[in-house]
Amino acid sequence: MNAVGQPISRFDGRLKVAGGAWYTADISLGGVAHAAIVYSTIANGRTVSIDTQAAEKAPGVVIVLTHKNMPRMNPVTWSHLHPQGQTYLPLQDDRIHYAGQPVALVVAATLDQAAYAGTLIKFAYETHLPVVFDQRTAKKDAVEPPRRMWPLSSSIGDADAAIADAAIKIEQTYTMPDRHHNPMEPHATLAVWEEDGTLTLYDSTQMVVGTRKLASLVLGIPEEKINVVCEFLGGGFGGKSWSWPHTLLAALAAKVVNRPVRLQLTRAQMYSMVGHQAATVQTIALGAEHDGKLTGIRHDSINPTSLFDDYVEYAAVASRHLWQASGGIATSHRVVHVNRNSPVVLRAPMEAQGHFALESAMDELACATGVDPVELRLRNDTLTDPYSSRPFSTRALGECLTKGAARFGWDKRTPEPRSMRSGRYLIGQGVAAAIYTHWRWPAKARVTLKANGSALVEAAAHDIGTGTYTVMAQVAADALGLAPDRIVVRLGDTRLPESHPAIGSSTVANATAAVMLAALAARQRAVELALTGRDAPFDGAATDDVIIADGRLGLTKANLNITYAELLARNGISSLVGDGDYNPVEEVNGPKAIFSFSAVFAEVRVDPDLGLVRLNRFVGAYDAGRIINPKTARSQAIGGIIWGVGQALLEQSETDPVSGQYINRNYSGYLVPTNADIPELDVMFVGGFDEEASPLGAKGLGELTAVSVAPAIANAVYHATGKRIRDLPVTVEKLL
Ligand code: MOS
Repeated sequence: MNAVGQPISRFDGRLKVAGGAWYTADISLGGVAHAAIVYSTIANGRTVSIDTQAAEKAPGVVIVLTHKNMPRMNPVTWSHLHPQGQTYLPLQDDRIHYAGQPVALVVAATLDQAAYAGTLIKFAYETHLPVVFDQRTAKKDAVEPPRRMWPLSSSIGDADAAIADAAIKIEQTYTMPDRHHNPMEPHATLAVWEEDGTLTLYDSTQMVVGTRKLASLVLGIPEEKINVVCEFLGGGFGGKSWSWPHTLLAALAAKVVNRPVRLQLTRAQMYSMVGHQAATVQTIALGAEHDGKLTGIRHDSINPTSLFDDYVEYAAVASRHLWQASGGIATSHRVVHVNRNSPVVLRAPMEAQGHFALESAMDELACATGVDPVELRLRNDTLTDPYSSRPFSTRALGECLTKGAARFGWDKRTPEPRSMRSGRYLIGQGVAAAIYTHWRWPAKARVTLKANGSALVEAAAHDIGTGTYTVMAQVAADALGLAPDRIVVRLGDTRLPESHPAIGSSTVANATAAVMLAALAARQRAVELALTGRDAPFDGAATDDVIIADGRLGLTKANLNITYAELLARNGISSLVGDGDYNPVEEVNGPKAIFSFSAVFAEVRVDPDLGLVRLNRFVGAYDAGRIINPKTARSQAIGGIIWGVGQALLEQSETDPVSGQYINRNYSGYLVPTNADIPELDVMFVGGFDEEASPLGAKGLGELTAVSVAPAIANAVYHATGKRIRDLPVTVEKLL
């Protein structure tokens, strides 16, 4: 039986619930010292004086580091995307660029001693008013940064003329707040220098390879002298896909004190020591015929970024690809530089913001034309990418819409707002569609067949909690003809074959494709041994005649077989290695446009007196190509929908406009959904094998499922109440 396609439970589940999975901050080493960061309370200015005397005399303190005595980092300049990291280097000068910036680092025998000593440091600041992001002035303040990832602007046809001439026009501005990742596991680093100058960084990161690259650049030591290790992540959400100042501080502090240094961010520090999702101000204009067919789309987005990094939240990119518009599609992105740490990708970046604007506007168009929202989307569906004119590799969006609608019972919906009720509650039903970028990245992997007939899979890729350890075992198992529990997977260590970061929902399609290639290479070597090795059992047979099942090689035409273990023993070897090198052309250079798709349906109930919105039920239909493990896939979808519920109803990071500080820096001030917020979630997969996307036929899944949850809910809220909320989150005060 094939392992791929089976709903296998995660192999690391038992380890995690039994405390056997070690997260970065759990790792204990002898002689370790603890570091605590002290951060600035102002957002703009400089430190005039720092008095560290009391801190230095406090119990247990080893050293107090400030910009005055911190060793210099390499003043290299790099684009923050290559490798990914905040380019501002900590404790190098007296300038303050954002509130919550590191201004001192205390190293002590215990964490409590370090944190306490930090409170004894006295700072005098020269303070300037911070530049903060203001939605009202964003348009005026915005500038076009250099291109970073995708083109900033796009124009196909003449969107503005088409919209000007359109029978039906929609033009609205949609706004979303800053959000923070808030993973359960805080960022942490344990830095260890060996006597030969090798640096090992145990780091809570989604990219061991990128972290090594960045540390090499900044610390000025060759990559071969750095190991980065991260075997388990307690949530990454994009926040751990960049390197941040605390990792560099830990590395240098360990060098200075000549012993291992452990540094863990506090929950409050998780707001400014690492990134966040930038707010967006998005304007959408749609032109359409009376039948709802789009003639033009214009989508412009502005986001704040730090003073030193041009982080562009590509919110308008979805509008380049999702719907066809006969007259043209135009998009643009600009940024506003403010006194803030650098934003970064967060839980379905780009798309999750862009679709709120686009799919809310589509709902407004449905209302304006009187066309049913599902039917409106079917009418604007396309099998050709409007942006590149290439055919989509696979696009089961129509099926997502029709099958999802059938499962949801959309035909029972009455279109008029406030027309559906349950007791005293207003009932609303909303739909939204989504398109999600598919990434194709190079990846390597190694598969080793062992003397006992088991196999080892190795790659410097990650399991960010989604099931990579398990799906890689499934894929290797099928390629090798072994049961998945005969496979051990090792990830998250730069000493393993180079792979890509765990970002963009790309690990199954790419890193796991490399595992399949490696396993097939190992299998091929075993077959060769059986055909031509010592006492070759299949001497004279052809490669194609060999079948492998249950760890046993056999011949289709003869009643002969031999296990991997016997084969290796017969040849006097203890292991057999296969290397996988997956090297796809980048998606943009391929013949087809590759994306994942979904249609999602939300039902809410709204308390008409209190304005409280509760999610009643939710149906998601997803085209993510071939599903490798339906159980872990469903878990990802549930997680993504819950992220979307947070985006729709709860999450917002608030900034004090005077001090420039984040105000709600903890789980009580920053709201995320809890079990009580989440009803039964109904997840279905449509679509199938996509040969352009990956040798495994899989497309990106995880983050797709977070996209368009917010507009589906906001559209449902409109249907329930008649109130269109264009500013997330949808909170009580906006509905009263
Ligand atoms: Mo994801 S926000 O691409 O780590």
